[in-house]
Amino acid sequence: MSHHDINCNESNNEHFQTVLEKGLQSGHRRNMLRGFVGLTGAAAIPVMGGCGSSDDVVAAELPAPVPKLASLDFGALSKSIQDQVQVPAGYSVRVLHATGDPLSASVAAYSNNGTETDDWAGRVGDHHDGMEFFYIGTDGKYSAVATSRAVLAVNHESSADAHFFHAKGQTSGGVNGKKFNQFGGWDGRTRPSLEVLKEINHHGVSIVEVTLNATGVPTGYSLSSTLNRRVTPQTVVDVKGPASAIASIRNKMVTKFDANGATARGTLNNCGTGNTPWGTVLTCEENWAFYFNMPPASSAPDAASVTSRRRYGVASAAIAATAATTISQGWYTPTDAPDTEFRFSRWNIAASGATGADDFRNEPNTFGYNVEIDPLNPSSRPAKRTAMGRFAHEAAVNSIPESGKPLAFYMGCDSRNEYIYKFVSTANWDPADIGGGIAAGDKYLNEGKLFVAKFNSDGTGQWLELNTTNAAISSYAPFKFNDLGDVLVHTRLAADAVGATKMDRPEWGAVNPVNGEVYMTLTNNSATNRNPATADGANPRSFNDTDGTRGSGNPNGHIIRFKEEGGSSAAVKFAWDIFLFGSEEDAAASINISKLTEKNSFSSPDGLWFSKSTGICWIQTDDGAFTDETNCMLLAAIPGAVGDGGAQTINNSLTAASGTVATGTTPTFVGAVLGDARLKRFLVAPPGAEVTGMAETADGKTIFVNIQHPGEDTPAIGTAANFTLGSTWPGNAGGITAAYGPTGRPRSATLIITKNDGGRIGS
Ligand code: FEO
Ligand code: CA
Ligand code: CA
Repeated sequence: MSHHDINCNESNNEHFQTVLEKGLQSGHRRNMLRGFVGLTGAAAIPVMGGCGSSDDVVAAELPAPVPKLASLDFGALSKSIQDQVQVPAGYSVRVLHATGDPLSASVAAYSNNGTETDDWAGRVGDHHDGMEFFYIGTDGKYSAVATSRAVLAVNHESSADAHFFHAKGQTSGGVNGKKFNQFGGWDGRTRPSLEVLKEINHHGVSIVEVTLNATGVPTGYSLSSTLNRRVTPQTVVDVKGPASAIASIRNKMVTKFDANGATARGTLNNCGTGNTPWGTVLTCEENWAFYFNMPPASSAPDAASVTSRRRYGVASAAIAATAATTISQGWYTPTDAPDTEFRFSRWNIAASGATGADDFRNEPNTFGYNVEIDPLNPSSRPAKRTAMGRFAHEAAVNSIPESGKPLAFYMGCDSRNEYIYKFVSTANWDPADIGGGIAAGDKYLNEGKLFVAKFNSDGTGQWLELNTTNAAISSYAPFKFNDLGDVLVHTRLAADAVGATKMDRPEWGAVNPVNGEVYMTLTNNSATNRNPATADGANPRSFNDTDGTRGSGNPNGHIIRFKEEGGSSAAVKFAWDIFLFGSEEDAAASINISKLTEKNSFSSPDGLWFSKSTGICWIQTDDGAFTDETNCMLLAAIPGAVGDGGAQTINNSLTAASGTVATGTTPTFVGAVLGDARLKRFLVAPPGAEVTGMAETADGKTIFVNIQHPGEDTPAIGTAANFTLGSTWPGNAGGITAAYGPTGRPRSATLIITKNDGGRIGS
């Protein structure tokens, strides 16, 4: 989504520009990098397992070593604003499933005209986002090697296009007659229950069993599989966490639904994903903060809750307890259907009862987590993994698993000026846990250390642990942390306390399977946050959109990467550089630092994913600054390694609306220029869409790619006649082998992309 750029970080944490020059001048950078190479070296970071007696076990579990490609085998696409999915010559695109498709034969085909009933818990959701692909062994459990059966789990993120689910848009009206969603615009009127139930239940996760042909190529999904499943915001989930903190955590989740806080309901705003080495999916709750209401004339909760709500952007507190109900979407208001299990009233977070067990004041505390789902066990209850912290989780990507070593999960918090986090498991990885489901998750994801990243001036960084033994947290004046439970539920505030580095909206992470290095997209930032005075080494640019009208600050974003000290998942130090800077190809050299061309220019990197088959780094965009020239896209890159470029000083110049020009210089570290051979545009999406989420078959011959919200931001008000469709994909057959589903309104979808000669994608 392009809207979730609210800055709720008012902490005084430095942008670290002041320390950069010192590091650069001292020459420590080169020594530091050499030190890291000496400790590890790319070749020493295991792909086939670690040292010692466990090698055989690990080797048996993992696929063949990832090759280092010399080139990409396709011709780069040009920019496009066509209403179609474009891929290079020699490749084909089909649709696996799209918004509203049935998950069983008993559910009617999707109408695409808003005439469905309350049956969305039996349909594929909307706004396809992160996804993960899992093979099924003969025992029905996850298999780490290819088999003849598999499932695909897909996130369904946002309700920004919920007007398309209703015959005539949202009939209770938006301000000024416009569509509305969780980011605002609702006019406060009572909403029809059917509209609200459709909007609630399209969120969450869909799991389908993918049908494979004799050579393992996906052909579609099975309507008869017992593995097909939806997890929605109404699914009961367990609240899990560290033994020492779980009582404190559950106490903060006490609601009228569960007076013990041991369970919560569902998952919301599911953006990026992660997978675990034991074969489960992590679905990440991102912009959950904007779904709640605290109507006027109601009571605010305690002061600590208000402080936390403000820091997370929970709308009702940010605009004060007596403000009008213009934020959110009025899910609490229906009166034309029973409030079964508080399905409507739970979204009203007023402290109206005597205690938290009498109302839903604590409902916001039940969101903002990574939620683990066992995709092969439909009867298993998902688990909120509170040990991984609570924030606007974008994705959760794991380190290369090494037998006998802890597992690390890297996580971004997607809002302007937020942070990058790491969770390190207490338990050491044991390949015997493959297929272990939620029980294995309990082993690795309940106990561990949570860190936040601080990027230093000299190209090094530190992981700062978040717990109350840290005096910076236990004595933090703006918020009282009584215990680890407070840290895990109010994580953003704990990260403020330790002085983490504010970033340009951290989105997805990805781990290079060749050398274990971690990549994170930083999608963009505004001029308010990133001007020449606040630019820093890790967020070094401040400029205006090249064409002058679509943003300023860092409107094109960049991708940072880092190498853990010693190649260790548990390291507390790392080395970093900036892999790529988004830019229009005709931008000034001070902006187009990665020397992008017409064949690979891009803006606002968001999704990020490495193929374990080819080692290609795939970059997906969700952009608003380059969309006058091209729709969003997917690019393929052959990366090098941290330190393959060098130090560089960036000359910033930012022109304010008033005409005032601010300038400055920012030293940083930049990866090697890839050039047209190592960075190519592979796919261009329909208008309005972002490209997000990827997965592959084990042989690397099929990739899945998600197209989210084609035609977004087209007006949709009042009556069907008022729909102006900015896209009619995929019903228009644009770029796919056949039209998919009913014509008319645009739909999000999962693509199946194959190479016509049957080879691996991109190589
Ligand atoms: Fe859901 Fe940060 O994109
Ligand atoms: Ca341009
Ligand atoms: Ca532009």
